[in-house]
Amino acid sequence: MQNRQIEMKQTSTSGQHTALVGLQWGDEGKGKIVDLLTARHDVTVRYNGGANAGHSVVIGDQRYALHLIPVGILSPDTMCVIGNGVVVDPEVVLHEIAQLTERGIHVGDNLVISDRAHVVMPYHKVHDAALETFLETAVIGREGGLSIGTTRRGIGPAYADKVHRSTSIRMGDLLDRNVLHEKLTVICSLRSAELKALGVDTEPLDADALTEQYFDMGRQLSQHITDTTYLLHELSAAGKRFLFEGANACLLDIDHGTYPYVTSSNCSALGIPSGTGLPGSMIGSVYGIMKAYSTRVGAGPFPTELTNDIGDAIRERGREYGTTTGRPRRCGWLDLVAVRYSAMISGATQLACMLLDVLSGLETLRICTAYELPDGTRSDRFIPDAARLGRITPVYEEFSGWQETIDDLTDRKSLPDAAQRYLDRIEQFVGVPIEIVSVGPERLQTLVEA
Ligand code: IMP
Repeated sequence: MQNRQIEMKQTSTSGQHTALVGLQWGDEGKGKIVDLLTARHDVTVRYNGGANAGHSVVIGDQRYALHLIPVGILSPDTMCVIGNGVVVDPEVVLHEIAQLTERGIHVGDNLVISDRAHVVMPYHKVHDAALETFLETAVIGREGGLSIGTTRRGIGPAYADKVHRSTSIRMGDLLDRNVLHEKLTVICSLRSAELKALGVDTEPLDADALTEQYFDMGRQLSQHITDTTYLLHELSAAGKRFLFEGANACLLDIDHGTYPYVTSSNCSALGIPSGTGLPGSMIGSVYGIMKAYSTRVGAGPFPTELTNDIGDAIRERGREYGTTTGRPRRCGWLDLVAVRYSAMISGATQLACMLLDVLSGLETLRICTAYELPDGTRSDRFIPDAARLGRITPVYEEFSGWQETIDDLTDRKSLPDAAQRYLDRIEQFVGVPIEIVSVGPERLQTLVEA
């Protein structure tokens, strides 16, 4: 099996570039597909999110977990771009560079970071955690209060500062000690007061020390920091092909997800133009990545959640524990109402169905294809609002399961009939073809439609 080559289909498209987005609540296995598609592209581009994402890839006996550096870094000759829409924690980037280098992966001029990407600072992480703790107890008698269940990586506070403007630091600022010091002097006095008001027992933030620490990190990263917008346009004009690596997922999109239980960026394909400076018309194909079932980490409505033995079995077989936080993921049946909505807003042109092997052995499978509303009527429209989505009852179609293990198959046609029927229903309901079926974490455990 190790010698088998994965032949990826060449797609003919109007735009030259490819996007890849998660169609559920994250952790769909995007890292594996980015890795598979990288060979057909010259540049991989992150456009949203930050170190809240965790993309894992298994190559041979090596497992790589990356939070900020695009997965393309694992392929030689691939340029990796962290676009302006990403919030960058320089400590994480430096840590990932060190770890990759230690494992023999070259990181040099193949990694560029937008000088306009905003920086996640230590006080953002403290603020994220303090706000979550505050919100947990904000409503008495409601489990979790109003907390989101964030990754506590400082993502929300960093994006909030971006919107506040004067209190944000961008990667380019790390290269100028005077600019950095002036900003941090103001920010530190403001943030110290805010953190105190949130009940954080900490020394006042030290602008001088933070300036030195972050100026030093800027110095270490200076060879990577540049204007990525012009660079991307130049590379595109030279015929290079891009792969946009979506982080988080459509249902966590700040505008189109299950608000307020979302992350703070546009993580559907709609975030690509603003997060990179490239018009959407340049994107020719969009891979929608979905699991054969559903998972969610953190709080928020999850209509098809299984809080029983089946949910537990899916969690164990699918190793459904967060790459970033290690938290157990909530597991449930496939919600096609949600997947079709995400495919619609992202313009998915093909699907990758991941982790199909995890469902092997279950006697009966269920797929949600409609929502019953509180007034008793049925709808097949997704509801991107947490409170209203929390009041629907899922309507299921039932399918026979399959008992065979499928993780050693090499051809989609050899899947058991019951698995074929399950995939057929997905394609038919979503109206987008499944091009890739993944039956295990390794590169070669991938069935590609011929
Ligand atoms: P934040 O992005 O850390 O602010 O977290 C907001 C919500 O999005 C929380 O429910 C997180 O668990 C969730 N979230 C953020 N990034 C990811 C991801 O990459 N996979 C799954 N869930 C995520």
